[in-house]
Amino acid sequence: MGKISASILSSDFGRLAEQVKDAEQAGVDWIHVDVMDGHFVPNITIGPAVTRAIRRATQLPLDVHLMISNPERYVEAFVEAGADWLGIHVEATLHLERLIQQIKEAGAKATVTLNPATPLNCLEYVLKEVDMVLLMTVNPGFSGQKFIPGVLPKVRRLRQMIDEQELDVLIQVDGGVQLDTIGDLAAAGADVFVSGSGLFNAQPLADNVRGLKALMK
Ligand code: DX5
Ligand code: ZN
Repeated sequence: MGKISASILSSDFGRLAEQVKDAEQAGVDWIHVDVMDGHFVPNITIGPAVTRAIRRATQLPLDVHLMISNPERYVEAFVEAGADWLGIHVEATLHLERLIQQIKEAGAKATVTLNPATPLNCLEYVLKEVDMVLLMTVNPGFSGQKFIPGVLPKVRRLRQMIDEQELDVLIQVDGGVQLDTIGDLAAAGADVFVSGSGLFNAQPLADNVRGLKALMK
């Protein structure tokens, strides 16, 4: 059964702790924390201090998505703040293998993230070492963007690579995951579905979670 990771980027930041608790109550599986630096992506969001506040608001796994330049400088800070899963972008580092080891040594599960245009072959020699691959289904920076259908064959190909090598690596998708796209993504082989606007922009949250989960089967 797939998992829903709730992207708090679409929540009301003025009531962040409450919104995280609402998502937990509504039945989401993980909380997805979008960290943006205004450099790697054209938007600025939150850092370790707010991540720590989110950690205190929920028992659910924290799935932290770093959309920042020089991610190696901040690995320990986000793990200390409570990240269970820590995701970095391959486009943001020259030393991917070292960064994966750094995340694991700091005590988190390592997620490697690819922008829509980044080919899968950059994973060839590190796939065995990672815990999850996040395939972006929008260009990172904002919630509420339109799903890029060209990523679907990439999800299928990654599923094939993981299954052929019998690896224990999850596939996560992020961006434009909604009622009209989640079925195709599940059929393509995704395991973890990040949802922001599809979850928080309509009430009640529990109905949205039920709707998404019914379609991911
Ligand atoms: C985009 C972020 C996503 C985003 C998802 O850069 O990484 O997590 O918040 O939002 P929706 O589900 O609205 O596309
Ligand atoms: Zn994200």
